[in-house]
Amino acid sequence: MAKSKIYAGLEIGTSTICVVVGEVLGNGSIKILGVGQAPSRGVRKGEIVDFETAQTCLNDALVEAEEKSDVEISSVYLAVSGSHIESLCNKGSIRIPEVEGINEITEEDLDEVREIARDIKLPSENVFLHSIIRDYYVDGQEKVQNPVGRQGEVVEADYHIIHGIKTRLQNTIRCVREIPINVEEVVFSPIAAAQVMLKREHKDRGSLLIDIGGGVTDYVMYTGGSVAQSGCIGVGGDHITNDISVVMKIPLTRSEKLKIEHGSALVEDDGGDSIFLEDGPLTSGLEIDKELLNQIINARATEIFEQLKDRITKYDDLDTLGAGVFLTGGGSKLKGIDKLAEEILGLPVSLARISSMSGASAPFENPQLATSMGLIRYAQMIDSDRSENDNMMTKIGKKLGGIFRGDSVD
Ligand SMILES: Nc1ncnc2c1ncn2[C@@H]1O[C@H](COP(=O)(O)OP(=O)(O)OP(=O)(O)O)[C@@H](O)[C@H]1O
Ligand SMILES: [Mg+2]
Repeated sequence: MAKSKIYAGLEIGTSTICVVVGEVLGNGSIKILGVGQAPSRGVRKGEIVDFETAQTCLNDALVEAEEKSDVEISSVYLAVSGSHIESLCNKGSIRIPEVEGINEITEEDLDEVREIARDIKLPSENVFLHSIIRDYYVDGQEKVQNPVGRQGEVVEADYHIIHGIKTRLQNTIRCVREIPINVEEVVFSPIAAAQVMLKREHKDRGSLLIDIGGGVTDYVMYTGGSVAQSGCIGVGGDHITNDISVVMKIPLTRSEKLKIEHGSALVEDDGGDSIFLEDGPLTSGLEIDKELLNQIINARATEIFEQLKDRITKYDDLDTLGAGVFLTGGGSKLKGIDKLAEEILGLPVSLARISSMSGASAPFENPQLATSMGLIRYAQMIDSDRSENDNMMTKIGKKLGGIFRGDSVD
């Protein structure tokens, strides 16, 4: 049996810094050894704006994770987000050379077709984050899983390409390296979360994973088993808290408490229900109209789902998502958010659940840990692909391709 291996996943979120330490056992199953969480400061809309402050919070989360897991963390798989991260789909196509009368497709041909698919003009300040294979076609034939060894004259490949602004991505990496902690891989957050939140069956039937965080809402959509769209909207749960604070004229911390304890994304007529605040020197004695509170929440949450709908329907039909929509991230804990998403997107919406890990049980219940947990599964997949490839550096494209085609979280 293969040896077990330990990995750490890190998300520096706008609200929370999460570190998960997981052990991949010899039989391939994952055991969570420990989790560290610290409130995040110095991060705005998923991007680090104040290095020193963010590093202090990061240290707190790392120390907690080390203590809980009894593992010294020297390297991490790092999730990144931010509304500068964009995606597109592109096709590459090559003619297979004839060798001794045979046109046999090789690994090198697939490398070449991938490079052709990546031959697109990105904005000058951007870099590739992921190039994810969607489908191969040989001589126009429908979807071929692995064309290596087959005969054919023309190979085409559809790639989902994710890119972002280089300096902004480097910022997050630098923040971690200065701790000092080594960064093994950088992964777009929803791609990591999907590794544990969506099952293979969901990806095959078509599904949309929405991660509502504090500063941003990340999403990834799968059709026919592979990534069709992904991106990041610069609005999250903290915007809701901020709106409540502005309209109700109460401090942010009190707005957050109000949102969590009494708020709903659905505007129901509460028959003139009011909430009387009893705590805090600035808020004690204040009367909050519950209907107004829900209207504020509803307006922002509606904006998030409308923006998402506009983005998705620009390229795809929502009806193709047979498995529906899955919500995760701290914002998914908001009361009524699933019903509102259902109304706007016109699809069944469920709260995503992690079902494929063992160990400390509490983390499975917490959607705020989805991304960091997903990073452990991602690390496992990268490593198993790595061990299959002798020449790791030249196989990076295929490595990622393998993950996103044949991934399974069952
Ligand atoms: N019980 C709850 N009800 C409503 N909202 C909640 C609840 N718990 C947390 N939230 C909200 O979830 C958000 C934080 O979620 P999360 O920890 O996933 O964000 P993050 O990963 O730190 O941020 P981001 O991914 O945007 O950078 C905050 O806006 C917070 O108010
Ligand atoms: Mg997040």
